[in-house]
Amino acid sequence: MSTNEHYVDGLYEADADLERVKAGIAEAGMPDISIADGYGRLLTLLVRMSGARKVLEIGALGGYSGICLARGIDQQEGGGSLVSLELLQPYADVAARHLAEAGFGGVANFIVGDAKESLVRLKEEGRTFDFFFIDADKEGYPVYLDYALQLAEPGAVIVGDNILLRGRTTDDTKQGPSVQAIRAFNERIARDGRLESTVLPGYDGLAIARVRG
Ligand SMILES: C[S@@+](CC[C@H](N)C(=O)[O-])C[C@H]1O[C@@H](n2cnc3c(N)ncnc32)[C@H](O)[C@@H]1O
Repeated sequence: MSTNEHYVDGLYEADADLERVKAGIAEAGMPDISIADGYGRLLTLLVRMSGARKVLEIGALGGYSGICLARGIDQQEGGGSLVSLELLQPYADVAARHLAEAGFGGVANFIVGDAKESLVRLKEEGRTFDFFFIDADKEGYPVYLDYALQLAEPGAVIVGDNILLRGRTTDDTKQGPSVQAIRAFNERIARDGRLESTVLPGYDGLAIARVRG
């Protein structure tokens, strides 16, 4: 983490729900790869500012980003929902517990399995969403972007985390499948005419796009 990121994170009070998630992830022996604190706060703001009520997350881990997303959903007038796709049942169980402990048990639904298959089923069911957070296997990002565009309401927001791959994205000697997939994802975020977007280079990089209405 840079000095600036460290300084900015230090401005905020400790967050009991998110500290509980980090402790629960460590206790369960899961990897420490939740979204950066600053981008978690940004997720909450983006959901709230966009007025999104149907949020789809791809990659749940221990529920850190899920809590950040759920916090932004306006629960007035019929409420909203978070659908979270996670490959591993034990991770989905930990995330569901953390969402419930944070007061979002009734908001979040987990679908366990390969997200590419879950997305096919969501499309077949005619489901649509107005906010997408992509944060699973990096090789899948281009496919996840394709599905986000297919399942998007006009004006939907699409966010993708870790688009710098801790320096590998900009290292020409790195040509593995994850790096190539992320480069393709980033180029489409920047240039696809259906999107307006920006890419933030802080932490490990965050892509933010809006589907033109
Ligand atoms: C970076 S972690 C997600 C972190 C989480 N979004 C957060 O910030 O709290 C990536 C997650 O994606 C899951 N994952 C990996 N490949 C997947 C796939 N093909 N389908 C669904 N989930 C997948 C992993 O099991 C892991 O929990």
